[in-house]
Amino acid sequence: MRQAGRYLAEYRKIRAEVGSFLDLCYSPEHATEVTLQPIRRFGFDAAILFSDILVVPHGLGQEVRFVEGEGPKLPPIRGTSDMKNLSLTAMQSTSGPLEPVYEAVGRIREALPAETALIGFAGAPWTVAAYMVEGGTSRDFHAIKSWALSDPAGFGALMDLLVEATAEHLARQVAAGADAVQIFDSHAGVLPDGAFEKWIIEPTARIVAALRDRHPDVPIIGFPRGAGLRYPDYASETGVTAVGLDSVVPVTWARDALQNRLPVQGNLDPVYLLAGGSKMLAAADRILDALGDGPLIFNLGHGVIKETPPDHVADLIQHIRARST
Ligand code: CP3
Repeated sequence: MRQAGRYLAEYRKIRAEVGSFLDLCYSPEHATEVTLQPIRRFGFDAAILFSDILVVPHGLGQEVRFVEGEGPKLPPIRGTSDMKNLSLTAMQSTSGPLEPVYEAVGRIREALPAETALIGFAGAPWTVAAYMVEGGTSRDFHAIKSWALSDPAGFGALMDLLVEATAEHLARQVAAGADAVQIFDSHAGVLPDGAFEKWIIEPTARIVAALRDRHPDVPIIGFPRGAGLRYPDYASETGVTAVGLDSVVPVTWARDALQNRLPVQGNLDPVYLLAGGSKMLAAADRILDALGDGPLIFNLGHGVIKETPPDHVADLIQHIRARST
């Protein structure tokens, strides 16, 4: 989950110097610095690349802006005729728009200690399409769901493009030095029963297969947030190496339904990190008690909230390290 970001003063300083969020993502020098900041401060076992899932639509040619206090804004794509300006060709060239991201990956890998893993990432097609079709953050996802459910062939053309673009984007990050990748399907939970297979599992399985063709051994973490009872199908049918659990997933259920088959990552509610203190440590203990004997990547169930005091992060890490040694 997010490690860098507005909860760290050293991030806010660089962000203010650089100006726009996307300029920060496309500056190899600054993206490297911002990725390393939380590692220097806290010494996590793994660093996550500083970037965003919306660099993929941007790389395909859609306008993307981040408006302060409002989030991302894109001119919405509501049918295949709105797709005519999108192109994979630019993204596939070695001088394409996302080249600074891969350069940052290389620089970060060189700067990190050998024992610290570097995680690259991308959004899953459904989640990225949600921003492309809704035009930004959405409360009910009516536009994308209407298109997907009423015109699966037309919407499928957008998803096919995203499958190819995402596989390319992840493969380039691995080639540049990422040790593992994570696929964020943050809006996987909004589809009705019967549609999850087609728009979440199938596209992810295609990306996993394409990536394994190029990099057979790279660990792939899938994060189908809100998948609920569909987590086990997602885990077995996509072929991911590990699954990220959102905070709602009951940990004892995850132990029996998932962790006996594959490693799990998660799932402390970020609000506990905001609150800190004994409640936070008890919530972490609950996760470790249920999942600590099997393969577990301790993490949050979603990103760090921007008001989180950094001291709480330090306290949490110290507690987990003390329990796991
Ligand atoms: O910690 C890190 O260094 C990782 C970097 C990272 C970011 N975004 C940086 C970011 C990662 C892994 C993401 C993933 C991402 N981006 C997701 C999937 C995970 C999730 O949170 O569900 C999604 C849905 C996005 C899209 C996105 N990016 C939104 C909706 C927003 C606005 C949110 C807000 O609070 O305004 C962003 C902006 C963003 N991405 C920030 C950061 C640090 C805040 C940017 C800033 O204002 O400085």
